[in-house]
Amino acid sequence: MGYPFSGLVVVITGASSGIGRATAHAFARRGAAVVLAARREDMLAEAERECRQLGGEALAVPTDVAKEHAVEELAQRAVERFGRIDVWFNNAGVGVFGRIEDIPTDAWHRVIQTNVLGTMHGAKTAMRRFLAQGHGVLINNASIVGRLAKPDSTAYATSKFAIRGLSESLRQEVLDQPDIHICTILPSVIDTPFFQHAANYSGHRVRAAPPVYTPEKVARTVLELVEHPRAETIIGGAGKVGALLKRLSPSVTTRLNGRALHRGFLAEDPSDPTSGTLFRPMRDGRAVYGGWRKGPNNGGAPLLALALVGVPLGLLAWRRWQPSANRRRTVS
Ligand SMILES: NC(=O)c1ccc[n+]([C@@H]2O[C@H](COP(=O)([O-])OP(=O)(O)OC[C@H]3O[C@@H](n4cnc5c(N)ncnc54)[C@H](OP(=O)(O)O)[C@@H]3O)[C@@H](O)[C@H]2O)c1
Repeated sequence: MGYPFSGLVVVITGASSGIGRATAHAFARRGAAVVLAARREDMLAEAERECRQLGGEALAVPTDVAKEHAVEELAQRAVERFGRIDVWFNNAGVGVFGRIEDIPTDAWHRVIQTNVLGTMHGAKTAMRRFLAQGHGVLINNASIVGRLAKPDSTAYATSKFAIRGLSESLRQEVLDQPDIHICTILPSVIDTPFFQHAANYSGHRVRAAPPVYTPEKVARTVLELVEHPRAETIIGGAGKVGALLKRLSPSVTTRLNGRALHRGFLAEDPSDPTSGTLFRPMRDGRAVYGGWRKGPNNGGAPLLALALVGVPLGLLAWRRWQPSANRRRTVS
């Protein structure tokens, strides 16, 4: 018999599209009650219907996570309707592309407000309830960018590193609570409307850099974490290879990522500045998918290429480390 997802009460922020919507579907399919939060009311209503059709109970609560009172109200509505909250998935997030000197200050403030303060608002209200009831799983969606920064994304990278710090600190606050768990997920690039929604002051069209993984892969991981909580989980082979490289050879990885990811996420063709979905939700990008897994984007080829670069680099780093270890042994 599998894990009893049926009857579990799960709050998901950023549930109107992308990863949040895919995760809502996955929980609903297993009979959970999902409470769906985001700003776009019509899309939340659509997601609510989909979840019911898939077999779960659902409640849509339009919410701007940057507003603490709105997040508090979200938790209250969840408890009024379903009696408690078992899982809180802090997933709502936005991005802005461009060099720090070119991005209007209010745009990167809004990224921090949504990604960092929004996650903290969710964490605070969820933790209060978890502590009162003695159980709960908080899952924070950082990104592999919270471990391996990328260029043209200073505010986003800052926000995602912050989410890892928040999670680690919370973990230390619940050491005496065996049934409360804090998990952080670090997805690699995922096929969602995120890149259409992102603000962009880079002068170039934003695209998803391959390899691109499915939102369902993230949703599966979130469900696995409810069953078997873990502190940090990287999703996607590219992120795992990247994290390993960073450990083995940090400065080489900084240089490689700085060049490759700049070209990977910004196309040659020009683009006008846009604040994307930062301040107001967009009509576009309504669905789970962003349409980025076309052509070679979804295959193992980019991963293979990464491994071909990564393995020699890893060996290089290992060989550099070896002599100093040997020297230490000779001296002692
Ligand atoms: N796609 C990737 O490659 C990738 C990789 C790693 C991590 N992530 C993270 O995954 C999370 C979900 O992104 P996604 O890829 O699924 O893209 P997405 O489709 O753009 O989803 C973002 C979600 O956040 C919601 N949102 C944005 N601002 C909000 C606010 N102020 N209040 C409430 N909800 C808000 C959006 O809904 P409304 O506009 O309706 O409010 C939407 O539902 C983000 O935290 C992102 O950083 C994405």
